[in-house]
Amino acid sequence: MSVASPRREREGRGAGRETKERSAPGASRAGPALRASAPQNTASALWGPRLTERVTRPAPALEARRVRKEYRLTRTNVYEALRGVDLRIEQGEFAAIVGPSGSGKSTLMNILSTLDRPTAGEVLIDGDDTSELSDASLAQLRNRKIGIVFQQYNLIQRMTAMENVEVPLIAARVAPDERHRMAKEALELVGLGHRLRNRPIELSGGEQQRVSVARALVKKPAILLGDEPTGNLDSKTSESVMDLFVQLNRERGVTTVLITHDSDIAARTRRVIHIRDGLIERDEPNTPAAPSTSPSLSRSLSDQVPS
Ligand SMILES: Nc1ncnc2c1ncn2[C@@H]1O[C@H](COP(=O)(O)OP(=O)(O)OP(=O)(O)O)[C@@H](O)[C@H]1O
Ligand SMILES: [Mg+2]
Repeated sequence: MSVASPRREREGRGAGRETKERSAPGASRAGPALRASAPQNTASALWGPRLTERVTRPAPALEARRVRKEYRLTRTNVYEALRGVDLRIEQGEFAAIVGPSGSGKSTLMNILSTLDRPTAGEVLIDGDDTSELSDASLAQLRNRKIGIVFQQYNLIQRMTAMENVEVPLIAARVAPDERHRMAKEALELVGLGHRLRNRPIELSGGEQQRVSVARALVKKPAILLGDEPTGNLDSKTSESVMDLFVQLNRERGVTTVLITHDSDIAARTRRVIHIRDGLIERDEPNTPAAPSTSPSLSRSLSDQVPS
């Protein structure tokens, strides 16, 4: 199956919703989009574009604004796990969140994914403020837009691999035949086409994690969030799962944010966000380390990435 051009994919994804920004005075500092749209007459040449002219760009995929999270420990004692986090994750980004144990990484990811609500501040998804949404609406939003992978897999033990992967499709009321087809395709994508009918107890840790990755990907989410998704995997399986994330980001434009303690994983992303004591301490671009040449997933991906 041929894979769509990444640029077209990203433009398609970003086209739905846009942030409008008032252009800053000073045409010479304006970006290319603004220069291209500036009228070529004498006044604009002298004064730059009028203040009313606007540039548009897609809303960030995820945005946290002044997010705080308190956990109540006793009646009089609260612990502030996040202390005012501002973060924008643009469409198509591939970022890692790193930091010491207890610094607030999982708390932040649970809030960004809307699994938990902040004590104060806002979370926006594709530019939409989620704070006023009911729990049911948030669940729908997650089901539509976000795939989440946890370190502990969170698989349902009495269900087969196929049935586990079908769970988000049942929630989205996908018809049974289509559900089976999509779940099988997602499991094949992660190299588990031969384990469709096995229950988690019959699978290795790496295989269970790949089932959870298939479950996160089965609805082709625009955003993929992972809380140490490779934390329980051996280095080879970890690299294979990472190959899959890299490829989905590059070829499908899936916005990806991964919490990791593993510097090799962080090194393969394009941005590393350092959290300490509930605040972003550093946020820096990264040049990704060369992709691995793991044959299995790369081959299955190029053959089978869902369109
Ligand atoms: N439900 C809770 N009740 C009380 N305190 C909590 C709760 N969840 C987290 N905390 C505290 O908030 C802080 C941040 O926790 P969090 O799980 O976000 O850390 P983390 O950076 O993900 O750590 P790790 O790398 O160990 O997973 C910790 O001090 C933790 O003890
Ligand atoms: Mg954590």
